[in-house]
Amino acid sequence: KKKLNIGLFGYGVVGSGLYEVLHQAKNLDAKIKKIVVKHPEKERNISANHFTYDKFDILNDDEINTVVELIDDSEAAFEIVKIAMQKGKSVVSANKKMLAEHFQEIYDLQKKHQVSFLYEASVCGSIPIIRNLEEYYNNDFLESLEGIVNGSTNYILSKIYHENVAFPAALEEAQEKGYAESNPILDTGGFDARSKLQILLAHSFGIITNPDEVFNLGIQNLSNLELAYAREKNLQIKLLVYAHKKNDKEIIALVIPKFISSESSFSTVNDVFNGVKVKTAFADKQFFSGRGAGSFPTASAVLSDISALSYDYKYEYKKIINNDGFYLTEDFKLKV
Ligand code: HSE
Repeated sequence: KKKLNIGLFGYGVVGSGLYEVLHQAKNLDAKIKKIVVKHPEKERNISANHFTYDKFDILNDDEINTVVELIDDSEAAFEIVKIAMQKGKSVVSANKKMLAEHFQEIYDLQKKHQVSFLYEASVCGSIPIIRNLEEYYNNDFLESLEGIVNGSTNYILSKIYHENVAFPAALEEAQEKGYAESNPILDTGGFDARSKLQILLAHSFGIITNPDEVFNLGIQNLSNLELAYAREKNLQIKLLVYAHKKNDKEIIALVIPKFISSESSFSTVNDVFNGVKVKTAFADKQFFSGRGAGSFPTASAVLSDISALSYDYKYEYKKIINNDGFYLTEDFKLKV
């Protein structure tokens, strides 16, 4: 097993959770050497000498062979992971927005510098969906992927439906629990779900997309009319992502709120849980579920990546390499 000397970026909900979880992982030879944060002087639950504000304290430290990037700002994050890869460091990130905006560049940098870059925590928190898509499924036989991939909106919709809580109060709770993005329109507008769908599209059908190519509709404009209709018909509203084969070549991909009945497996996915349904030609349907956001569940996915790095695991991007000609259908592309 490789010894990992970690430079951590960010000590927010996920970063502080990781610190704790890593501390309890006795079977790993992995230590956090430094933590870069915006405000090192801020009062925290561990001593101030762990923290620095200068990214080069990590990036120029040759003893640090692993960068774990858990900051909010996707552009700042991209700068960090780019330099880390150029310096031959392995990277773990949970930054779905950065991946969605820079997938091609990140993919190219990994090839060029022969480094491992893992991001299981970026999609569906604790559910190991990326590794499964990468390892288990053949894209010829994969027929569709559907999922609840945003914890905050699922929390909000569950609170509204099961407890009659009003939208703004439910959103506030999701924020207090550390589920929501710092700008919550990313959650409620379906943008966070879109980033995750883009990552899933790469690992399922081998398609690299730009954010503006994927149609997304959020739940921010849901009105009492839809909510009352759902109640009357005994339906729930869920924010779903879809990637379906339209034919041998075209893939339909979109983020959209949908009415679902109590027979749907998604009806049991409530609170901050996420769920992904995969359908393949020979296996029929499989359903994954688990906590989609929150400090420890997300940190557990980051920990799993750190552990995978200790035996030099890399995504092979088999679906991208053998794309077999799949591409996103024009049907739902927004023309700007
Ligand atoms: N804001 C995200 C969510 C965090 O609610 O799912 C986890 O990616």
